[in-house]
Amino acid sequence: MPDLSKRQRQYLDAMGIEVWVPRDAAPEPVAEPLAGPPPAPAGGEAAAPPPAAEADPATLVATGGPDADSPIHRLDWTALAARVASCTRCELHRSRTHTVFGVGNPDADWMIIGEAPGAEEDRQGEPFVGRAGQLLTNMLRAVGLQRDDVYIANILKCRPPGNRDPEVEEMEACTPYLNRQIQLVNPRLILAVGRFAAHYLLNSKASLASLRGQVHQYAATGTPVVVSYHPAYLLRSPAQKGKAWADLKLARQVVAGSASNTET
Ligand code: URA
Repeated sequence: MPDLSKRQRQYLDAMGIEVWVPRDAAPEPVAEPLAGPPPAPAGGEAAAPPPAAEADPATLVATGGPDADSPIHRLDWTALAARVASCTRCELHRSRTHTVFGVGNPDADWMIIGEAPGAEEDRQGEPFVGRAGQLLTNMLRAVGLQRDDVYIANILKCRPPGNRDPEVEEMEACTPYLNRQIQLVNPRLILAVGRFAAHYLLNSKASLASLRGQVHQYAATGTPVVVSYHPAYLLRSPAQKGKAWADLKLARQVVAGSASNTET
């Protein structure tokens, strides 16, 4: 396990981020290294699955490219990214700086699904790059995963102004994109972080506390779903991190094939 560089430690301290270490793998409370340097500026860090560099997605659709009329559930990665980049299906397109499509390994075993972009995600066009994202990255490292081993997306691809809660019409407008992402990644597990992701994926209004600790299924694809706390909540309530660690271990068991549907 490589050592944290001085710069990385300073960075963690400055962010007030606790370092996550798998307890059963590391009895001593040693520091877990960061995945890398602080988040790269716009467009950096983990490679987004759609090869955005090959073509400007917005232009593809705006110019009536070959997929301009295809239904969302038939789009490939490039066309899907293009469709999202030029989306006007709800009012959130008026206030966004960037759409936030998703990032990571398009063949990932783990798919992490959050709620909606925040200010930093809106600025950079990448999910979970703010403080909550730093914690998520450290949580993933605690189960031996780098950020670009997994695929990370949100229910909403545009930031709700002032980080207000997503509205039903916004989620309805946006979820065909997420559904297509889930189909394309075809993960072994979805980790739903936070109430909105859990409620959407499980079509449930139950409390997060009651949804945790079980293996559910996303009905549309049959994908196993484990629910956990949103990292933003964990930043506010660090005492709950132990429960989030238990959720990650359950998720790891599902991916390893040693836990299956436990829905009651
Ligand atoms: N919160 C989320 O749910 N998603 C992000 O991308 C950032 C913060």
